Amino acid sequence: MTTGKVIAIANQKGGVGKTTTAVNLAAGLAQRKQKVLLVDLDPQGDVAKALGLSKQEPMKQTVSNLMLEMIVSDTCSYEKRILQCDEGFDLIPSNEKLSSIEVTLGSIEDKETVLKDILTPLKNRYDFILIDCKPSLGMLTINALCAANSAIIPSQSEFLSANGTYELLKRIQKIREDGNPSLYVEGILVTMTDDRTILSRTMKEQIQAQYGSQFLVYPWTVPRRIAIAESSALGMSILKYRPESDGAQIYRKLAKEVERNAQRETGKYRDPHAR
Ligand SMILES: Nc1ncnc2c1ncn2[C@@H]1O[C@H](COP(=O)(O)OP(=O)(O)O)[C@@H](O)[C@H]1O
Ligand SMILES: [Mg+2]
Repeated sequence: MTTGKVIAIANQKGGVGKTTTAVNLAAGLAQRKQKVLLVDLDPQGDVAKALGLSKQEPMKQTVSNLMLEMIVSDTCSYEKRILQCDEGFDLIPSNEKLSSIEVTLGSIEDKETVLKDILTPLKNRYDFILIDCKPSLGMLTINALCAANSAIIPSQSEFLSANGTYELLKRIQKIREDGNPSLYVEGILVTMTDDRTILSRTMKEQIQAQYGSQFLVYPWTVPRRIAIAESSALGMSILKYRPESDGAQIYRKLAKEVERNAQRETGKYRDPHAR
């Protein structure tokens, strides 16, 4: 049986590590034998780029086709729209056409739940459906949060980005009140840390101090590493590119924690320390 948990990876700031986290968490969960679908919900289409797919041929079938079909006819066909990538998970890619879909969403009824309607029939095929959000709190991100069970918030350890986290948490609260009451924060993941700088250390501590009592702030952080940037430029996860690196270890840890949390929710988790 699949758990079918939907996790949005969101922060309205660009460049905080959303796509990197989405790709590497998907790869990490796949290595743990989980069935994973990664949905790119950013018109920049970075997921396919980070997996080296868009270089081969332009993406013809994308999440835009599914959304348009769902808007027009209240149903959609998944055939040939879900790609299998060689890192062991499936992918629904995106491209710039998604921007016009976001405009269209503005003028229809039930605009917040189009993605949810698309993903619901897929839940019994996957253990995890991860949604890589675009850097805004617009209608696409709202669609992701309405479809999601939980959200992972990558937060860069510098001042402005920490502010973005606050705005996003307020939006999540609003979406809970407006129609997705069980949405919760899976965790705040502090990214691009550089323990040599005082600023990075201080921000990490501030994020922990500000949000740690209410939300899970993962106790480990994703360090800033050239190898991580290289891996996405070369079109693969850090788990594939440098499996022994500390960046790969952190993303494997995240995958393990996310899987455990889902197991706890379904009652399958057995605490190794319990008698
Ligand atoms: N931990 C890291 N260390 C170094 N570079 C990183 C790290 N995480 C992401 N990057 C790079 O930073 C850029 C932005 O990351 P990305 O994941 O695309 O952010 P977002 O999706 O939030 O815009 C990319 O070029 C990516 O390769
Ligand atoms: Mg991105």
